[in-house]
Amino acid sequence: MEIIHLSAECYPIAKVGGLGDVVGALPKYQNKLGHVAKVVMPAYQTNFFFEHQYETVYDGWVKLGYQNFPVRILRELHNKLGFDLYLVHIAGLMDRPNVYGYSDDTERFLAFQIAVLDWMEQWKHRPDVVHCHDHHTGLVPFMMTNCFRYSSLKHVTTVLTIHNAQYQGQFGWDKLHYFPAFDPWKAGMLDWRGTINPLASAIKCCWRLTTVSPSYLDELGFQANGLENLLSWERGKSAGILNGIDNEVWDPQQDPMLEKKYAVRTVENGKRANKEALCRVFNLDPEKPLFTFIGRLVGEKGADLLPDIFYNTLSHYDGRLNILVLGSGESVVEGRLTHLKNNFEGSYNTYIGYNEQLSHQIYAGADFLLMPSRVEPCGLNQMYALRYGTIPVVRRIGGLKDTVTDIGDGGFGICHDQSSVWDVSQAIGRAYDLYQDVQRMKDIRKYMMKLDHSWDRAAQQYIDLYQI
Ligand code: ADP
Ligand code: GLC
Repeated sequence: MEIIHLSAECYPIAKVGGLGDVVGALPKYQNKLGHVAKVVMPAYQTNFFFEHQYETVYDGWVKLGYQNFPVRILRELHNKLGFDLYLVHIAGLMDRPNVYGYSDDTERFLAFQIAVLDWMEQWKHRPDVVHCHDHHTGLVPFMMTNCFRYSSLKHVTTVLTIHNAQYQGQFGWDKLHYFPAFDPWKAGMLDWRGTINPLASAIKCCWRLTTVSPSYLDELGFQANGLENLLSWERGKSAGILNGIDNEVWDPQQDPMLEKKYAVRTVENGKRANKEALCRVFNLDPEKPLFTFIGRLVGEKGADLLPDIFYNTLSHYDGRLNILVLGSGESVVEGRLTHLKNNFEGSYNTYIGYNEQLSHQIYAGADFLLMPSRVEPCGLNQMYALRYGTIPVVRRIGGLKDTVTDIGDGGFGICHDQSSVWDVSQAIGRAYDLYQDVQRMKDIRKYMMKLDHSWDRAAQQYIDLYQI
C-alpha cells in the first residue's frame, strides 16, 4: 500500500508538540510492515531544512485568489528517517522559521494543500491512501472529492486523524475565492456554523476518521469545541487508535541526550546519575523526590493551575521535595512560574522555552511527571515517562485514562479525577508517600519500563483501517 501522510509537523524536521512525534514515527513503522508510507509537509526554514540535501520533484505555481506563489517540492535524498520525505517550498508563505503563529496561517496552509494536490494530480499513478493530520490538512478531502481540477484523485481513500479538536482553523467565507473551482452546491461541505471550518469539513468529507485514543473519541461526543453533534453523526466511520511512541528515539538504553544511559536492570543507578546532573544544573537537591511538568503552558494542559499547585505544595512540604518545569506558552503562566523561583530557591526551578535535549534529560532524571490536563487527546509525555521509569501523575482523561492505571487499582501511576488545584495537590501527596517506600518505587519503575507502547501495534491498526 502507498500511504501519503500530510502534516504541518514531523519530527525531526519541525515539531511543536506531539503531532510532530506521531508523524515522525507512524510512517516509519508502516514501512517496516512492508508498506510505502511517505510524508509531505511544508518546507519551513528550520535547521533540518538547511542541513540536508534534496532533489526537485516538482516546480510550479500555486494560485491563491489573485496572487500566485512559486512552489518547489523537494525530496530529501539520504532517506535516514525511515520514510520518504517531501518538503513543499512556497516562497513568500512557507519559507519562515516557525510552524504556526503568523497572521496569514490560513493562506499558508491553504496554499500548501492546493500545491500538494496540484502535484499529486500530475502523478502517473494514484496512491492508495491520503492520510491527513489535523485541520492544517483538513481541506484536502473536500478538494479531492469536489474540485474539478482534482477529479482524478476523487476515488483515493482519505483518512483524517484528529490529534486535537480544540483547534479547527476556521476562516470567513470571504476567502472562498482561494479555492480551485468546485460545484457551489457542495459549499455546505466546507461550512460549520457560518464559517469555513477545515476540521469540520474533513470530518464530513473523509472516508475514515480516527482519534488518537479510544477515550478521546468518546469524549468528543460531548466536548469538542462545537463539533459534538457532527462527530456523533459521523461516529460510524470513526475509530480511536491509541498512539504509540518511537522506541528507537525514546530509548533510555541508547538515548544520546542523557547524562547516563540505562536499561531496566540498571534503572536505579541510571536514574540517579541523570537526576544528579539535572539537580546540579537547576540547583535542586537529588536526595528529595523530583516532580516535573513538561509541555505547552496552556489551559488545555491545566498549566494555569500549576503556579497555585506549586506554591501550596512547596509551602506545605517545606524543602522536602523538588519541582522542575520545562515549557512555554501563555505569558501570564510563564511569568507566574518564573516568579516562584524567588520564593523557593533550592527546591523549585523552571526553564521557559523549548528544549528537546532537556526534555529527554528530565524524563530520565525525574521521579514523577505531572499531567493535570483538562483535555488530552492522547498525550505522549506519560508514555515517554513510563519508558524512562518516571511515574506519571495524571488526570483520568482521554489518552491518559487509556495508558495509566492507578497504584490503588494494581497499576503503576497516580490518577486523579479533576483538573483542580485540590485534586492535583492530593495526587502529589500520594506520590510523595509512595516515594518513601523505596522497594515499591523500584518495583514500579521496572514494571513501567517493560510496558510496550511501541508503534508496531498502532501502525498495523491503521493499515487494517485503510483496508476496511
Ligand atoms: P501536545 O502535542 O498536546 O503538546 P503531547 O504529550 O502529545 O502533547 O506531546 C508533547 C511533545 O512535545 C512531547 O514530545 C514533549 O516532550 C514535547 N514538549 C512539549 N513542550 C516541550 C518543551 N518546552 N521542550 C521540549 N519538548 C517539549
Ligand atoms: C495533540 C494532542 C496530544 C496528542 C498529540 C499527538 O497535540 O494534544 O494529546 O498526544 O496530538 O497525537
